[in-house]
Amino acid sequence: MPDQAISIEKLTFNYGRLKVINDISLEIPKGSSFGLLGPNGAGKTTLIRLLTGLLKPSSGSISCSGNPPSPANAKNIGYMPQMPSLYSELTVKQNIDFFARIYGMREKHQRFQRVDEVIKLVELWAKRNISITQLSGGMKQRASLACAIVHQPPLLFLDEPTVGLDPELRAHFWEYFARLTSAGATLIISSHTMDDAAHCEKLAFMREGKIIAMGSPSELKASTGKPDANLEDAFLYFVRLGEVTANV
Ligand SMILES: Nc1ncnc2c1ncn2[C@@H]1O[C@H](COP(=O)(O)OP(=O)(O)OP(=O)(O)O)[C@@H](O)[C@H]1O
Ligand SMILES: [Mg+2]
Repeated sequence: MPDQAISIEKLTFNYGRLKVINDISLEIPKGSSFGLLGPNGAGKTTLIRLLTGLLKPSSGSISCSGNPPSPANAKNIGYMPQMPSLYSELTVKQNIDFFARIYGMREKHQRFQRVDEVIKLVELWAKRNISITQLSGGMKQRASLACAIVHQPPLLFLDEPTVGLDPELRAHFWEYFARLTSAGATLIISSHTMDDAAHCEKLAFMREGKIIAMGSPSELKASTGKPDANLEDAFLYFVRLGEVTANV
């Protein structure tokens, strides 16, 4: 059996009376990229917050490398929230250095080297000494990604990381993500774009708190029975299949 980075069993989560995550079970092997796809309100962000330990399940269980998720385990996790949460009074470089320190990178020389390395990686070198408030939306997104990856965590949660990125930089990011997974890191990514989805080894299509289909991009496309189907067609196929099943 492959080594699992994440195992989820019968997970539910409610906000008051609203069931936001509804009986989800899945396993994510170490060293893979796993995509969560679904419309607004499907529960992607809530699921990621549960996996990081920021929310507690209403029922069911989550195990990250054998342990329940906990913010105390933060140094092994990188989390890029959907809304960048950066400090406006700090520069780009100071923000990244701040996250590196709270993630436990104490050794100064090594930390400074790594901070410079990620600034270059997200192509913000020319902007490194200006305030976060002076960045464009896509640049803030890049700075937020740099903060999540600076400590090289084995488990990385990226909530819509490519929103606002131009196509060239998006391709560049995916090259980097592929390098991370081949080095053994596990990536959980939420997205609305089929371009991101196509890069993931495995995808879960989410709708109304449930996983309506799971598989590799080619398996999901093949399920439609149409040779020229894309991932958008596959998503709609499973939505309609669910509606038909619900109506019988
Ligand atoms: N703090 C909250 N209190 C109450 N309900 C919430 C809260 N946060 C999210 N929800 C609800 O939970 C559901 C799932 O929201 P979530 O943010 O997980 O969706 P999402 O799939 O990430 O959507 P998007 O693609 O828009 O980011 C929605 O119905 C939303 O209104
Ligand atoms: Mg979301």
